[in-house]
Amino acid sequence: MRILITGSNGQLGKQFKEISRLHKDKEFFFATRYEIDITKAPVIEKAVKSYNIDCIINCASYTGVDSAEDNISEAIKVNSSGAGNLALVAAKTNVFPVHFSTDYLFDGKSNQPYTENDIPNPQTEYGKSKLEGEKEIISNIEKGLIIRTSWLYSVFGKNFVKTICEKGKEKKHLKVVYDQAGSPTYAYDLANTVIKILPEIIDQSGGVMVYNYSNEGLASWYDIAIAIADLKKLPCIIEPVLSTEFPAKAKRPHFSLLSKNKIKKDFQIKIPYWRHSLEKCLKKMK
Ligand SMILES: NC(=O)c1ccc[n+]([C@@H]2O[C@H](COP(=O)([O-])OP(=O)(O)OC[C@H]3O[C@@H](n4cnc5c(N)ncnc54)[C@H](OP(=O)(O)O)[C@@H]3O)[C@@H](O)[C@H]2O)c1
Repeated sequence: MRILITGSNGQLGKQFKEISRLHKDKEFFFATRYEIDITKAPVIEKAVKSYNIDCIINCASYTGVDSAEDNISEAIKVNSSGAGNLALVAAKTNVFPVHFSTDYLFDGKSNQPYTENDIPNPQTEYGKSKLEGEKEIISNIEKGLIIRTSWLYSVFGKNFVKTICEKGKEKKHLKVVYDQAGSPTYAYDLANTVIKILPEIIDQSGGVMVYNYSNEGLASWYDIAIAIADLKKLPCIIEPVLSTEFPAKAKRPHFSLLSKNKIKKDFQIKIPYWRHSLEKCLKKMK
């Protein structure tokens, strides 16, 4: 199988690059935004044809949650029209698309894990643009995969885990919010799961399949920060605070835990508990 990864310079794209070495039965092609801009359909099509691609894994996205509030058209251009372009090219060239979506589709008012069937109600421009992207994929292609994930972290790029590690060394005291609950996702677990389920899902008969994936368990950002401080033996004190202490342009959902029952049942996979994956990631971060 020949797989094209778009947005390969992002956190998840880099994670796919790292794990590609573990999957020698597949051939990977990586494209940064400068090589393939997903807002330009002919560029995607040209690459798909010249590398004879079977599957596109789209890691490209506008991910600035706060900046999207002011740059609505740019967020829509990448997250909605860009996703639509990928779907149209995939349909035209008979390529299987994999696309990533987010827990920000939901308003966070539930107290039950969100399932794939729950009705989205995004509260942010980023969330709205990602929902439109899902719709573009679903309406333009007969077969594909959308994975909704949350709170992504890895050894690559910028993320909460790396920030706490850095700030926890510099500062004696850190304030972290405890009134947003969800589950972090180790990009390594997500990327490996996608590659593992890919052959089976491509064989399945038609439709765009939507699945949730994050690590198991429930945590607040405060819980994660405390776990990092414990595991890394950081000298700083971490204080739990309410989100109101950190006013942000985009409203964060108070609860965004994703139910993983569907993916676990359909593919008989086990998902690691968030703290176990965090420990693995921290061991890699020297
Ligand atoms: N990070 C999270 O916590 C989180 C949570 C839930 C879901 N997700 C989803 O997971 C996916 C991967 O996220 P991530 O954390 O890896 O994001 P990321 O680190 O921001 O990477 C996104 C990549 O997309 C590239 N890009 C932006 N516009 C593009 C365009 N027009 N054409 C091609 N590439 C473009 C960016 O290029 P530059 O490097 O040049 O900026 C960047 O390399 C996204 O779909 C995101 O919505 C992320």
